[in-house]
Amino acid sequence: MATLELRNVIKTYGSGLPDTLKDIQLKIDSGEFLILVGPSGCGKSTLMNCIAGLENITGGAILVDNADISGMSPKDRDIAMVFQSYALYPTMTVRENIAFGLKIRKMSAAAIEEEVARVSKLLQIEHLLNRKPGQLSGGQQQRVAMGRALARRPKIYLFDEPLSNLDAKLRVEMRTEIKLMHQRLKTTTVYVTHDQIEAMTLGDKVAVMKDGIIQQFGTPKEIYNDPANLFVASFIGSPPMNFIPLRLQRKDGRLVALLDSGQARCELPLAMSDAGLEDREVILGMRPEQIVLAGPEANGLPMIRAEVHVTEPTGPDTLVFVTLNGTKVCARLAPDVAPQVGETLNLQFDPAKVLLFDAATGERLGAVGRAQAAVTGDNVAQFKGR
Ligand SMILES: Nc1ncnc2c1ncn2[C@@H]1O[C@H](COP(=O)(O)OP(=O)(O)OP(=O)(O)O)[C@@H](O)[C@H]1O
Ligand SMILES: [Mg+2]
Repeated sequence: MATLELRNVIKTYGSGLPDTLKDIQLKIDSGEFLILVGPSGCGKSTLMNCIAGLENITGGAILVDNADISGMSPKDRDIAMVFQSYALYPTMTVRENIAFGLKIRKMSAAAIEEEVARVSKLLQIEHLLNRKPGQLSGGQQQRVAMGRALARRPKIYLFDEPLSNLDAKLRVEMRTEIKLMHQRLKTTTVYVTHDQIEAMTLGDKVAVMKDGIIQQFGTPKEIYNDPANLFVASFIGSPPMNFIPLRLQRKDGRLVALLDSGQARCELPLAMSDAGLEDREVILGMRPEQIVLAGPEANGLPMIRAEVHVTEPTGPDTLVFVTLNGTKVCARLAPDVAPQVGETLNLQFDPAKVLLFDAATGERLGAVGRAQAAVTGDNVAQFKGR
C-alpha cells in the first residue's frame, strides 16, 4: 500500500507540441482506487505511462509515499501496469508471461506455480496456459495481461482499460472480481475506463480529464450529483444528462425557469443564491431519472404535459423522449410504463435537483454545491395548461 501524488505534472512529447498533460495535481490515499476517465486523446495513457516511468515527465513531480520517484527507472518503482495494448511477450507462453515478473523477483518455483494457478483461475484462462499470445483472441490476451499484473503484489496497480475487449458477461464478472480483489488487497490503484458503470462502481475517487487538464476530482457521487461544469455533467451518466438552454426569469420575486413542451408550460422555481442570474442565458441540466411520471396523488412538484416522440424499452427502464423548449429530452421511466408514440404524458421534475450552467463558459452557476431550490408549498409552480 502506498500514497500516490502528482504535483504539477506537465508532459510534452516534443518542443513545439502543445503540452499533453497540463499541471496535473492529484493525491490518492493509500489503498484508494482512482478511476480516470476522459475522451479519447485527452492524455489518460500518457498519465499512466508517466506514473509507471515509461515516459519522462517534463515538469512537476510524482511521489509515492511522499518520496519523489520522477527520476526512477520503471523497474525500481514497484508499480504493475496493464497496458491498453496488452504488451505480452510474444515468444513466451501464457504461463511464462504471468510468471515473468515473479521470476525476476526471485520467487521460488513452487510459489510461482501457486500464484499462476490463482490468477489464471480468477481470470478463467487456466486452459490457455501453454499457448502463446499469437494463439489467443483479443479478450484472452487482455486477461493474460491482467494476470501478469495481478500475480505481483506491487505498491501500485495501473490499469489502462483492462476490460475493454471482453464480452459483456465476462466484463461484468471481471468488474466484480476486481472490486473484490481490491477490497481484499487494498492496493492503491489507478484505473482508466470508458465504461460508465465501471467509473461509478469501482472507484473511491474519479478524476475527469479533458485536453490534459483534470476537470474535476471527487467521489463518484460528487461527480455525478455535483458536476463542476457542463463537460463533467455531460461526460458522466448514461443516458446522459438533459441540457435545456433557456433564459432565467424573475416572477413574484423568485427566479424561475420556464419550460415549454408545445402543449403546455410550467415554471420551475429556483432558489439560487446568486442574484445575478436573472435574465441570464443558462443551460438547465436534468438527469433522465429526475423526470418522473405524475402519479394520481398531487405531490406539489411542477408538472408539464408533453408528447412522446420516441420510446426505448431497455429492460430495466423505459426511456421516453419528449421535446422541451425545442430540445430533445429523455425521461427514464419504469419498465412497465409503455406509452405510445404521440401519446401525452404528465411529467414532473424536482426543482431541487436541477443544475444550472453558464451558456457561454459551461461553468456551474448558482449556489455552492448543488443548485438550491425550495419546493415548499407556497412557491411550487402549478401546472399551467395553455
Ligand atoms: N509518443 C507520443 N508522441 C507524440 N504524441 C503522443 C505520443 N503518445 C501520445 N501522444 C499524443 O498525446 C495525446 C494523448 O494521448 P493518450 O494516448 O495519452 O490519450 P488517451 O486519453 O489514453 O486516449 P484513448 O482513450 O484513445 O486511449 C494524443 O493527442 C496523442 O496523439
Ligand atoms: Mg489510452
